[in-house]
Amino acid sequence: GKAKVAPTRPVGPDYRSESQKPAATVSTPVDFDTVTILPQTPQLIALLSIIRNKNTDRGDFIFYSNRIIRLLVEEGLNHLPTVEHTVTTPVGRPYDGLLFQGKICGVSIMRAGEAMEQGLRDCCRSVRIGKILIQRDEETAQPKLFYDKLPEDIADRWVLLLDPMFATGGSAIMAVEVLMSRGVPEERILFLNLIASPEGIKNFATKFPKLRVVTAFVDQGLDEKNYIIPGLGDFGDRYYTR
Ligand code: PRP
Ligand code: URA
Repeated sequence: GKAKVAPTRPVGPDYRSESQKPAATVSTPVDFDTVTILPQTPQLIALLSIIRNKNTDRGDFIFYSNRIIRLLVEEGLNHLPTVEHTVTTPVGRPYDGLLFQGKICGVSIMRAGEAMEQGLRDCCRSVRIGKILIQRDEETAQPKLFYDKLPEDIADRWVLLLDPMFATGGSAIMAVEVLMSRGVPEERILFLNLIASPEGIKNFATKFPKLRVVTAFVDQGLDEKNYIIPGLGDFGDRYYTR
């Protein structure tokens, strides 16, 4: 892949004038309306700067990745359907509110996607979680499916698909094909992702035009080993074993 020029922009807070804002590299924009990129706030950019740093130790990598994962889950929940719901307050007055409509479940792409399960559980009490084990061949970057275990009634649920790294898109495409083969329509899948490549996003959004993606950042591209650049290296290794 070819690296594009990364956009460097002044980053907040909003009350500062442009010239008083520090400049940082922000997400590459994409023009698919199914893809939501988290707002490029000072907090998000500072958190990403920690986990991208090769000198960050494993404890900090886990802690600050979890912080970004929480932001992704919080944004993802805003993409689920709701219905009108009026409640009565203790002082006897009505409040016209909303209720989430429909059942959900999480599905993590192992191993790295499992790191996102706790963030989902912290927001959705006793959420069901399925697993799909897909591993990229280290030489060819081709994904291989080893295992899946999914809720029996997954076809009736909204699925929050979890994988922090979205490089060629091969692993995520394979996972979506497994979900669709179990009867989940693509419009009921929401893919939550930390860092994506522009080519991964393009492949995926073209193949699944109704599937929503929420990502924290779209990077410049891929290197000759199909690692995301600038990226953060191997997420699974840094989170679990390094
Ligand atoms: C990584 C990552 C994704 C995949 C992304 O997993 O977690 O699943 O690669 O690459 P792609 O978009 O090109 O398919 P890996 O296979 O290295 O396994 P791991 O989760 O066990 O680290
Ligand atoms: N998987 C990772 O963990 N990192 C990459 O950059 C690409 C795939």
